[in-house]
Amino acid sequence: MQRQPVVIANWKMNGNRQLAKQMAEALREEAGLLSQVQVVVCPPAVLLPAWQQHVFYDAVHLGAQDVNEFEHGAHTGEHSLALLGEAGAEYILIGHSERRQHYGDTDARISAKVNAVLNYQAQQLKVVLCVGETEAERETHQTTTVVEAQLSAALEQVTAAQMTHVVIAYEPVWAIGTGKTASPAQAQEVHRFIRSWLQQKYAAADTVPLLYGGSVKADNAETLFAEQDIDGGLIGGASLEPDAFVAICRAAV
Ligand code: G3P
Repeated sequence: MQRQPVVIANWKMNGNRQLAKQMAEALREEAGLLSQVQVVVCPPAVLLPAWQQHVFYDAVHLGAQDVNEFEHGAHTGEHSLALLGEAGAEYILIGHSERRQHYGDTDARISAKVNAVLNYQAQQLKVVLCVGETEAERETHQTTTVVEAQLSAALEQVTAAQMTHVVIAYEPVWAIGTGKTASPAQAQEVHRFIRSWLQQKYAAADTVPLLYGGSVKADNAETLFAEQDIDGGLIGGASLEPDAFVAICRAAV
């Protein structure tokens, strides 16, 4: 099954308007590449309008790093789907390990956010669901148990039809920001497990892109993306360097 490659930049709490301009200018030179790879940039939400100024002929897609599951109201500091959609976001990262670890994203809250995005009527947005195990869980052979539990909880109420608007990112926590990238074999093993789980639950789940995240760099992207069930990457640090990010996108073709 040939799936269109997807490469997503997760800027986390980094970047500025100047970098948005630099990155957009670097990507503007890559029309051919952008016709082959779905490139998404998830800057801090306050930079979405700056990105909107540069996004050209919708070749580069924008995303948000999180969302509040409520439509509007007294949720200081939070962002609703309406606000993010108006600012140009088409993709929403949900369940990133940093939010699970430090900002109280429980399985129940993640499920609520997933359902809010997929049931949002005003605009068709896509969920990028992040799953992955900690080093301790891997060392105690709990990787697939943990990933299965995260998938089951987050997708409990999601229908097969809604899965066409879902991307899944496997991000082993021990590889995020550490320089300790999972080997292609390690990543493929978990991606194969996720693909099998999706096929059991949804029958025709072959279309769901599975992305790898965790210290993806220009010099390791090609071997990772060559794996059968790795359809692209969710890129942190390297996405803050325009040349490195373009090289990673090229590796996904
Ligand atoms: O969401 C992507 C991020 O968690 C990976 O970060 O810096 O290891 O590429 P990094």
